[in-house]
Amino acid sequence: MSSKLIAPSVLAADFANLQRDIEMVNASHADWFHIDIMDGVFVPNISFGMPVLQAISKHATKTIDVHLMIVDPDRYIKTFAELGSDVLTVHYEACTHLHRTLQAIKAEGMKAGVALNPHTNINVLEDTINDIDLVCIMSVNPGFGGQSFIENTYDKVKQLKDLITRKGAATKIEIDGGVTNKNAKLLIDAGADVLVAGSYVFKSNDQIETIKDLKALANS
Ligand code: DX5
Ligand code: ZN
Repeated sequence: MSSKLIAPSVLAADFANLQRDIEMVNASHADWFHIDIMDGVFVPNISFGMPVLQAISKHATKTIDVHLMIVDPDRYIKTFAELGSDVLTVHYEACTHLHRTLQAIKAEGMKAGVALNPHTNINVLEDTINDIDLVCIMSVNPGFGGQSFIENTYDKVKQLKDLITRKGAATKIEIDGGVTNKNAKLLIDAGADVLVAGSYVFKSNDQIETIKDLKALANS
C-alpha cells in the first residue's frame, strides 16, 4: 500500500516568519504544502493571494497543493500553474462546468482536485470520479483554520472510497479541517490518503515532532 501523506496547511503558519515555517516543513516528514486561497466571496474570509504563493514556491521543496476557495476558479487556472502549483483543487460548489474545469487544470500540467463542502453528498461525483486525481473532503466549513472536526466525515470517506473502488478510479482522498492525532488513524482506516493539518501542526510546541508523529500514525 502506498504511503499516506501529511500536508501542513500554511494558513496556520506565522506570516511574519513565512520563510522559516516553509523551511521547517521542507525539513520535516511532511509530504505536501497545503495552500488555502480564499476570496471573501465563496467563503467569508480572505487569506492571501498570488504574491504570497510566489514567495512560498520560491522556498518550498515539496509538492504544492493549492485549495481554491474562490468563485469562478477557471479565471485563474493558468496563473496558479505558473505560480508552481502541482495539485489544483476547486470547489464542486463553485463550478458550473466541473468537467471542463478539470480538463483545463490537467491541460496546464497539474493534478486536478475537487473539494466538497460538508453539506455536499459524495454521489455528485459519480460521473466525474474517473477524471479527478484528488477529492478533498471538507471536515469543517471552509473559510477558517482551527475549527472542530465534523464527525460525519468518516461516513463520507467510506462512501467515497466505495465509489472510487466501484468505478476503478485512481483518485486520492484528502481530508481538510480539524485533523489531529485523535482522528488521523480513524480517517486513514476509513480510506483517506492525505491529511491536511493546520493549527494542530503550527500551534504545537515542536512542529517537526508533531508532523513526524502524525506521519507515523497515518502509516501505522
Ligand atoms: C479551511 C482550510 C483548511 C484549514 C485547516 O477553510 O481549507 O485547509 O487551513 O486548518 P485546521 O487544520 O486548523 O482546521
Ligand atoms: Zn484547505
